[in-house]
Amino acid sequence: RSVSVESTLVDKGRHRHFMAKEIHEQPSAVGRVLARYIGADRSRVVSPAEAVDWSAASRVLLIGCGTASFAAHVAKYWFEQLAGIPCELDIASEFRYREAPLDGREVAIFVSQSGETADTLAALRHVAGRVAATLGIVNVTESSIAREVDTVLPILAGPEIGVASTKAFTCMLATLATTAILAGRVRRRLDAAREAALLGEMLSLPRLMAETLRLETEIAEAAAEIAPARDVLYLGRGRLFPIALEGALKLKEISYIHAEGYASGELKHGPIALIDDGVPVVVTAPSEPLFSKTVSNMQEVLARGARVVLLTDAAGAEAAGSEASIRIVLPNIGPEMAPILYSLPVQLLAYHAALARGTDVDQPRNLAKSVTVE
Ligand code: G6P
Repeated sequence: RSVSVESTLVDKGRHRHFMAKEIHEQPSAVGRVLARYIGADRSRVVSPAEAVDWSAASRVLLIGCGTASFAAHVAKYWFEQLAGIPCELDIASEFRYREAPLDGREVAIFVSQSGETADTLAALRHVAGRVAATLGIVNVTESSIAREVDTVLPILAGPEIGVASTKAFTCMLATLATTAILAGRVRRRLDAAREAALLGEMLSLPRLMAETLRLETEIAEAAAEIAPARDVLYLGRGRLFPIALEGALKLKEISYIHAEGYASGELKHGPIALIDDGVPVVVTAPSEPLFSKTVSNMQEVLARGARVVLLTDAAGAEAAGSEASIRIVLPNIGPEMAPILYSLPVQLLAYHAALARGTDVDQPRNLAKSVTVE
């Protein structure tokens, strides 16, 4: 009996769900991205994105839908901080109609797992020929977006079956990070030593991601606290803000618990009105110079009776003291690449909350893997 390549690739293996399998594949999937986009000397980006004239770019436009738009959102921080290029982030369904003025010197980046999302493809067609270059960050390299962009950067995640995107997200992030580092080098914002240091940090990701996945039992215990809730808030600051958005989306998608992600600083401008002892708050916060502000955000919600699940590192756990109700301590990682690592616990929280609720993790109601209609 012959076994097609396809069926061996999409086997669930020892996992109960494709989503679990795909979460656990991330160290190796991200490792593939690093092997593709970091040169043999391990200190320099090597990428088809070298074809882009980054020095002449007036702006970077980052466009996607759903989880892909959150990967784009993290990339906005990277392109601005590492390459000094002004960035605009757009949801594709908004961009295609909002008549954004273009000066012809933009680099437009389209992020899509499937490469077929109708709005993202329409946004690409809207700018084609009117910007300096189009780049596609895609998983399916035979897709429409891959065919129509000037330059394709495959994210090499392999087939993703779970409707809720996991490994495609971290592979998008890793691909976008190398692209921003390349742009930073070309624009002389990053010297060779800084580029090598950032890539060194990236190269440690597969190991740190594997270590983080070993926290699964602890994370499942935290998920058990979240599972009975009707509403959950996710908070994050800076590069972790989009991870809060993605964490909330994952929870909504597969457990049907209402969840919202907010920039930590926005808490007092509305969402704090929702807080009571029935609303758990997930805080994604590696230690960083603004960490004390995050601690005071936590105090505000704790004072109103909320349970706080704090995802942080050892120094963050120490600084937070007993403030958090539940602390999950991740391995140390530099601030630039933290969003890639912190994606894992928010995926696992959603997965285990969904298991506790008994929902269909791989095929959530009303959702499609690829949305090819408007
Ligand atoms: C659908 C999927 C999401 C995905 C979004 C964008 O809504 O359910 O998981 O993030 O489409 O898909 P794309 O293939 O463009 O990344």
